[in-house]
Amino acid sequence: MTAPQDWHRKDLIAIEDLSRDELETIFHWAERYKPTLGRTNKKLHTLNGVTVVNLFMEPSTRTRVAFEIAAMRLSADVITVMGDASSLVKGETLRDTARNIQALNADMIIMRHSAAGSAKYLSEVIDIPVVNAGDGAHEHPTQALLDAFTLRERLGHDLTGKRITILGDILFSRVARSNIHCLKKLGAEVTLAGPATLVPRGFEKFGVRVCHNLQAALDGADAVMLLRIQHERQTSTHFPSLGEYTSMFGLNEKRASWLKPDAIIMHPGPINRGVELDSALADSGRSVILDQVTNGIAVRMAVLHLCYTTLTAQAS
Ligand code: CP
Repeated sequence: MTAPQDWHRKDLIAIEDLSRDELETIFHWAERYKPTLGRTNKKLHTLNGVTVVNLFMEPSTRTRVAFEIAAMRLSADVITVMGDASSLVKGETLRDTARNIQALNADMIIMRHSAAGSAKYLSEVIDIPVVNAGDGAHEHPTQALLDAFTLRERLGHDLTGKRITILGDILFSRVARSNIHCLKKLGAEVTLAGPATLVPRGFEKFGVRVCHNLQAALDGADAVMLLRIQHERQTSTHFPSLGEYTSMFGLNEKRASWLKPDAIIMHPGPINRGVELDSALADSGRSVILDQVTNGIAVRMAVLHLCYTTLTAQAS
């Protein structure tokens, strides 16, 4: 496989940085990688001999495992370091941790961290590629990429004019920020919905519609992306109780009927079943939640391949 011409980054930090052509390049490679996921022998040799370190300072199931599988499918050697089991707990700085991992001859670092801006910072203090697996409330670029990849599969490759509603905790959500940038670059019409305390009007500066009336937000949408109510990011002060959130903004059968008849239901996970999303709806035929998870492997294979290819091109 040869590298496409319109990708020159060794790091993936934020969707906000990417051009439409760069997004299309990632989708191109993800489409090529997706059919390999179902093969009996799933290994490709793209990253043969490459060492990838997953540095996860926050809990994760989908992102961490998908990055591990993506790297292994490309024949990389993969090591996962969990923050609470590393020397960071002894007071080592993030910079020193990363520089030591580089000194151990790692070729790429994938990092999740609670601090917004930490992935960018890391990319400035080490030479090897850094892939952002979620930095605080800033961005979660590969989540938006896998979401857009899934939307393109279901709604067609051209998302121009497609109506996508993002519902829930927008204020604290890196997934929402990355998706807003990604969907706008792809030409979609984006509506943000939820309580005014979690969906402030300030988001309108991104060219999206902010709507606090749930029926108006869902009416005629092609897809709805639910966002988890994040207890750990102090949302309790932003609405009276989880029960009241559910009664006003939780997606149930009746409210889903306001969407287009063939609209899809998405969620980045983990789901709070019965809070932001009715449990039966999460498992229904309209839900593409597990497709999103599977697509996360193909998209991350594309990202790892592209970033590493740029590094080797710069070195030669
Ligand atoms: N969607 C997502 O980031 O899930 P994890 O926190 O399990 O990685």
